[in-house]
This record gives sequence, C-alpha cells and structure tokens, in this order.
Amino acid sequence: MSWRGLIHEYRDLLPAVKDENIVTLHEGNTPLIYSDDLSKRTGLKVYAKYEGLNPTGSFKDRGMTMAMSKAREDGAKIVMCASTGNTSASAAAYAARSGTIDCVVIIPEGKIALGKLAQAMIHKAKVLPIAGNFDDALNIVKEITDNYPVELVNSINPFRIEGQKTASFEICDALEDAPEFHAIPVGNAGNITAYWKGYKEYKEHGKTTQLPKMLGFQAAGAAPIVHGHPIDKPETIATAIRIGNPASWKPAEAARDESGGLIDMVTDDEILEAYKILAANTGIFVEPASAASIAGLLKLSEQGYFDEHKGARIVCTVTGHGLKDPNTAISAIEEPKQIPGDINAILKEIGL
Ligand code: F0G
Repeated sequence: MSWRGLIHEYRDLLPAVKDENIVTLHEGNTPLIYSDDLSKRTGLKVYAKYEGLNPTGSFKDRGMTMAMSKAREDGAKIVMCASTGNTSASAAAYAARSGTIDCVVIIPEGKIALGKLAQAMIHKAKVLPIAGNFDDALNIVKEITDNYPVELVNSINPFRIEGQKTASFEICDALEDAPEFHAIPVGNAGNITAYWKGYKEYKEHGKTTQLPKMLGFQAAGAAPIVHGHPIDKPETIATAIRIGNPASWKPAEAARDESGGLIDMVTDDEILEAYKILAANTGIFVEPASAASIAGLLKLSEQGYFDEHKGARIVCTVTGHGLKDPNTAISAIEEPKQIPGDINAILKEIGL
C-alpha cells in the first residue's frame, strides 16, 4: 500500500487517534541518503536524513500531523504557535488541511526566511509579527493558550514530540539498527528530545540492539545550552534556531547525558561552509539551520572526536529545505555573469 503518513505507519507506537480525526499530508518516509563526500571527509559512514522533503519542507510536519489530529479530536477551533518560521508554515498547512481549524502564528518581525512567511500566508494563517524574538513570542503564546480556548501547537505540546520521534523509527528501519551517532541542530530543543525518545522506544520494543550518541549543535550566537544560561539577544544567520531560552532545555540535556553525547556550537561561518559543501558535493540543498548538524560533524571530525570510531555510522538530520531561505542562497553564491546569446560565446565559457 502507498504511504499514508506516519500516524498510519507507526500507529502502535503513537497515542491513539480516531481515523476520522487524522489530519495528514502524508508526511514522513523521507530519504536517508548516504554521502560519499562526507564519509570520505570524516572516515565515518555518513547519512543525511533529508527532512526538507516533508510536505511543507521541514521536519515540523511529523509533529504537526499528531498535534493537529489531537486538536481536531478535542474539538479545537483555533491553534496557535510561536515560530522562527517552519512551525508556522506547518501549522498553517495542517490547519488548512483540517478544514475546520483556524491558525494564528506569532513570529519575530523581520527574522523569518521569506519562503516560510509565504507559506504561512498562502495557507491563510493569521500571521502576527512582533517586535521581539522567538522566546518573547513563545511566552505570549503560552499565556494565551493557558487562558483561552486555543490549542498550543509548539513542541511543548507532547503530541508534537510523539510525531517527531518517528524519524528515529524510519532511520532504524532503513539501517536495520540504530546508528552509532546522531547529529542534529538544536533550537527550541524539541527535536533532539523527540529523536532520543524514538531511539529509546525502538530499543525497548526489541527493534534495535543499541542507542546512538546524540550530538546536538546550536549556533554560536544562540547557544544557551552550551553556555549554561539563557541568551537575551540570540543572533545567527540560521534564523530557524535563533533561540535564547529553549523550552525543551532539560530533556535535551537528558538526551545528551543518557546517550553519552554532547551539545556543542558552530559559528555562522562554519554553518555556511557546511551548507555549501552539502549542496555542492552531496546534492542536498538545506536551509542554514539544517547545516548545523553537518557543520558539527565536520568540526568534531577535525578535532579527532571520531578517531576511535572509523567506519561507524552517523546520521545527520537536515531539518529543512534550502528553498525556504532563498535570500541566504543568493547571497552565498556569485551572481552569474551575462554573456552574448550565441553558441560561440557559450562554447568558449564552458571551455569547448
Ligand atoms: N532546524 C530547523 C529548520 C528548524 O526550523 C528548527 C526549529 C530547528 C532546526 C530546531 O529544532 O527547535 O526542535 O530544536 N524551528 C522552530 C520553528 C523553532 O519555529 O520553526 P528544535
């Protein structure tokens, strides 16, 4: 049977939802792509879990199918989220898909990649930019959803985490066990929490024999967990993870500590470098925040972190599609120069 979305696929390991309440765009089932280039660079077997191929172009759809289905089951009329962009795009699309639920999103003004804003708008969410950052937006959303009949669909909604954990299941199904390492960008820290939950549950169910070390990466200008305190004014080119006080801080630390992994940071330059390397040599185009996992892999490899683990498998989650943030791509490339429209000029340019 063709893929009907992750709730149908992983029903036995997810909270129950009645069939008639399932809101799905057939999310999940994303490819796990082996990278020759990154494997050569690191001496590991490197796989990218390409979450940009979900219906709205990011991993958020995994959590959103669960959260929106539960909201529909509970009779919600309005859902709300704070977002650096992808959650709002996903919430807007799944609310539209539900046919009955309205969506309100609060975003940090001017700090949302263009594609994500376009998505929230075209799906007819009510988009409210505030003069503040993601952390300010989330505080407002918590206050409203605590006091009014509005369902919160940020990742502090436990159903979001439940849906997102299915990415680990897919990885283990594809590799026929858990990998030795898992690298992942960290922003609000819901996703690292979800992956770790998924890996642990699969092992408890006897589907895998081991657990990976979880390697989380924050942007250097927005690295509260690395520094051990909230960051008042987080800054990074990777706007998706421009977060100073992650909601799932404690569970992210638990994932790090229980797995024997780490949470480190990568600079904007390292992120951009990894972003270009992945696009040019592996053919995978991601948004800057997603490249944090690749930047982290390369950084740790250069530091010798993997020296004792040659040939081990590492999965890097690349969380969102490159087309989400066209402006960063355009500023990272050289503009092509115009040439005369004749064959000889073109042959000369390509050296034939
Ligand atoms: N990568 C991308 C592309 C994201 O959009 C996010 C989070 C992350 C990584 C980090 O995931 O928050 O679970 O640690 N984006 C949220 C949003 C905050 O509003 O779209 P996390």
